[in-house]
Amino acid sequence: MRIGLLGFGVVGRGVYDITAARDDIKVAKVVCLEDISLPDAEVTKDFQSVLADQSIDTIVEAMGGLHPAYEFVRAAIEAGKNVVTSNKALVCTYYDELIPLAEAKGVQFRCAAAVGGGICWLSELERSRRVQKIMQVGGIMNGTCNYILDSMTRLGLGYDEALKQAQALGYAEANPTTDVEGIDTWHKVILSSNIAFGVSLDTAQVPVTGISRITAEDVENFKAHGYVCKLVSTGIAKDGAYSVYVQPTLFENTEPEATIPTNYNLITLVGEHSGRQSFYGQGAGRYPTAYNVVQDCVDLLCGKGFYVPYGEKVSVDNSAKLCYYIRGGSFPADQIAQHWGNAIITKPVSVESVHAWLKENPDAFIAALNGVC
Ligand code: HSE
Repeated sequence: MRIGLLGFGVVGRGVYDITAARDDIKVAKVVCLEDISLPDAEVTKDFQSVLADQSIDTIVEAMGGLHPAYEFVRAAIEAGKNVVTSNKALVCTYYDELIPLAEAKGVQFRCAAAVGGGICWLSELERSRRVQKIMQVGGIMNGTCNYILDSMTRLGLGYDEALKQAQALGYAEANPTTDVEGIDTWHKVILSSNIAFGVSLDTAQVPVTGISRITAEDVENFKAHGYVCKLVSTGIAKDGAYSVYVQPTLFENTEPEATIPTNYNLITLVGEHSGRQSFYGQGAGRYPTAYNVVQDCVDLLCGKGFYVPYGEKVSVDNSAKLCYYIRGGSFPADQIAQHWGNAIITKPVSVESVHAWLKENPDAFIAALNGVC
């Protein structure tokens, strides 16, 4: 396999390093806008020269962002090259277009590293749905947010300091807003749900709330009541309806999610035969993520493509009810069940109504209580 590697940042450099010692996979050309030189690969700023190179059969996209990653990946597929990408924003945004295009062109398209960094999540999800119906996917899917929340909970760090550390460790996206506002997790749960349920979700109907408004006082409040806060995604398929959302969630200290440290992820599926299965590992970082990219390359060499039956567009129904911790804003008094210091715990209220309320109360912080309330 001769690879044209697009991007030489956190993930691209990791792919180059991991493949350097292999005989069967060679990074032949690297598209990089900086002036670098590499011992074993040609470095160019010109994507077209990589596209035109008939000896390159596979494009590994590790640029991140939507543009020009989308244009490059689309051109590569149209030119008959296989594509491996870790770019969840790209796959999620252009799912309806890229998956059918790859199928039509007879090329392989794999994106195992797009969700869960180094965890064998999407690859196992795809295997799982060959044999069973999947009812639920989700969990802790963002290493940066888990690092921040874990540092605030265990080490007592402030939000800003914890975010700076996550960035310094290379966990955060180029723009950390994508992580802390939950957009990265949003992309990941949409992609996971599409694959798990064989659908194409109407993404505009999937609500997302991140962690940027959490304070050290909130964390102390959770601790005092025996809870730990995590950013969690949920995708549920039931009776032909799909409930999908991303929000901070409180877990009792003894629940598995509460114990997930630093940049680790814990992603779970519930299947009709397997029951509940959870996948745990480093969800961000150079070598964990590059590891899964290289696994995709090896799968391509073995003739295993990432074949996803393309799903019909479906709408989202978030009328399910949960109890919420809410600090700030003005919540209807008749919906309040308890007070936790300066915050409230609501009676069961629908996911969609709370996310709609938050739009009118943008300074408030919300977190769902996991499980039945
Ligand atoms: N910024 C992402 C995270 C990287 O923190 O999980 C992996 O997708």
